[in-house]
Amino acid sequence: MIAQTNLSGFCSNPKNLHFPPQSSPSFIRSPQIVSFKSISNPTIPINVSSKRLLQCSSISQSSDVFPSDVDESAGGLRRKKLAVFVSGGGSNFRSIYEATVNGLVHGDVVVLVTNKPGCGGAEYARDKGIPVILFPKPKESISEDDLVDTLRRYEIDFIILAGYLKLIPTELIRAYPRSILNIHPSLLPAFGGKGFYGMKVHNAVIKSGARFSGPTVHYVDEHYDTGRILAQSVVPVLADDTADKLAARVLHKEHEMYVDVVAAICEERVIWRADGVPIIRSKNNPDEYC
Ligand code: GRF
Repeated sequence: MIAQTNLSGFCSNPKNLHFPPQSSPSFIRSPQIVSFKSISNPTIPINVSSKRLLQCSSISQSSDVFPSDVDESAGGLRRKKLAVFVSGGGSNFRSIYEATVNGLVHGDVVVLVTNKPGCGGAEYARDKGIPVILFPKPKESISEDDLVDTLRRYEIDFIILAGYLKLIPTELIRAYPRSILNIHPSLLPAFGGKGFYGMKVHNAVIKSGARFSGPTVHYVDEHYDTGRILAQSVVPVLADDTADKLAARVLHKEHEMYVDVVAAICEERVIWRADGVPIIRSKNNPDEYC
């Protein structure tokens, strides 16, 4: 995996992260692209418990399962470098960031990418000293190749989409195979695809009469919400639900589940089945998968 071949040290203090390595003159240092302005703290509460949420079950370790992201020899795994992409409030970003600081996730958010420089997620990143990259940028846009180049200079292992509303360019998907995750607020493949975002998802779920909903974490391909499913979590849809109430119930699960999943990828516990389905190996029992 290309994203996991960039072995290097890590920076445990995000405030020390100002610019990526300067080995190439093509890296863009414009302060319009990398910003450090501090803005006030966000107010949305985050509640992420350290208990494992992913439901695991035993399966036989046959030739149908082969390790891809697992380094059996790594007693001390290298901390992974994460780029988080946001377009909105960024509550998932915050829960993941806090998990990296609290030690639940063996990695660090080293850069934030957004198409909305004033969004809550970008403000939170600046407040924490995390560099913010604008992509796509309305004026003097950096190209897709520049974005890939910039992420490479930050030695990014994984890209975490957390409410980023733009389609991910093909260049990025090719540069980071099996390394880009998204979270969607429904049980994919239901209620996914272009146009299914925010309250539109929850309204459609309620209107359909579905009795259960919940977030899905999936790998990202060239289309909206069609990449391989990595994890799901279920919440009930109640008889008197509104989209707002259902959204809050799902979002609470998102915060917990996304942290668990990011912890798993940073610990190299993703296994790719022969049929292309990724599954997560339990942290406590190597014979269990989630
Ligand atoms: C979440 O509901 C997520 O599933 C979707 O966008 C929303 C982002 O929320 N992709 P937040 O910005 O993390 O609060």
